[in-house]
Amino acid sequence: MVRETVFSADGNDDEDDLGEAIDIRQEFDVDAREIDERLRPQSLDDVIGQSQVVERVRVMLYATRKRNDTLGHILFDGPPGIGKTTLATVIPKELGVDLQIAAGPALDAPKDLLPYLTNAGHGSVLFIDEIHRLRPAVEEFLYPAMEDFRIDIALGEGLNARTINMQLKPFTIIGATTRAGMLTAPMRDRFVYREHLDFYEPDDLIEIVRRNAVKLKTKVTDQAAAEVARRSQGTPRKANNILLRTRDFATLKDPNGEITTEIAAHAMKMLEIDSLGLERQDRRYLKIIMDVFQGGPAGLRAIAHSLSIPADTLEDDIEPFLLRTGLIQRTPRGRIVTQRGYEHLGVTPGPGLRSQF
Ligand SMILES: Nc1ncnc2c1ncn2[C@@H]1O[C@H](COP(=O)(O)OP(=O)(O)OP(=O)(O)O)[C@@H](O)[C@H]1O
Ligand SMILES: [Mg+2]
Repeated sequence: MVRETVFSADGNDDEDDLGEAIDIRQEFDVDAREIDERLRPQSLDDVIGQSQVVERVRVMLYATRKRNDTLGHILFDGPPGIGKTTLATVIPKELGVDLQIAAGPALDAPKDLLPYLTNAGHGSVLFIDEIHRLRPAVEEFLYPAMEDFRIDIALGEGLNARTINMQLKPFTIIGATTRAGMLTAPMRDRFVYREHLDFYEPDDLIEIVRRNAVKLKTKVTDQAAAEVARRSQGTPRKANNILLRTRDFATLKDPNGEITTEIAAHAMKMLEIDSLGLERQDRRYLKIIMDVFQGGPAGLRAIAHSLSIPADTLEDDIEPFLLRTGLIQRTPRGRIVTQRGYEHLGVTPGPGLRSQF
């Protein structure tokens, strides 16, 4: 059984001063989720790359089965679209146990967790997405559940107040977060296993593109698969999106619908994805720092205001790849566009800026 709470894609709660902001994830989300589900690996063998993490997961699963035990709680962290939900959904399948899915921001109060906890069967998995966004009261309610499979329910008020304890069946929480740093220490410490998922190697992305092309019954040449992979910012979800969009261009241009290098190159141009895989919003981000903040340092909130994009979205979706490719730097005083960032956009920094490189 999969019990799912569909949560608001609005990563905007704490951005009260950004009422007008458009969250780019929103327009993306409906499509992206549907694609995710269609192309999501169904077993650990289908999971490509992240070989060390996958290997460690195999060991966890083996040991759990061998001891006829309940799997320890697992935390996956890493940028969006990198495989956290994928691993979290594959694990219960491998163990042959039930999965329930909840989302941190949708759990307003401890009572919202109750149905999940009381429904959790022996050895089953409760996946909590965006676990860094759990409210403190909900988080505290979860502690004894994670530690002793017990919950304390407060009944009544004032003099009549009392707490009853309820025993739960042993179960596993799998948490996912794009911000491991925002997790409180007590929460983090309750996870037996903590795994970080990083950007993918080009060869792994090529393999993901190839396999997904087969799933989509689309032919793609080796070179074109490499091109799609190269432009997908080390992220499987982006590779999937580009593959799907490129497939549309192939259908339009080629009677066989095969994705060739030429079609891939044309698609990238139309989709405004550049040689490094940057999309329009990534370039806008760089340009704003260059033009409005003279290359930086610029504070995250100031950049967010200038772009009308929530700061959360910038931190989660845009900055990780720019940091990783060295196009920007984070300093205590704010974000700076590096020389490489300027070069990539073909802009010469103003005279005052050259000294900072
Ligand atoms: N290791 C992998 N092998 C093959 N495909 C993958 C892998 N990781 C991710 N994908 C593909 O990318 C899609 C997005 O991955 P997933 O939903 O697991 O990302 P996520 O880390 O949970 O992202 P978010 O933080 O946005 O929730 C999956 O549906 C799947 O098609
Ligand atoms: Mg996810």
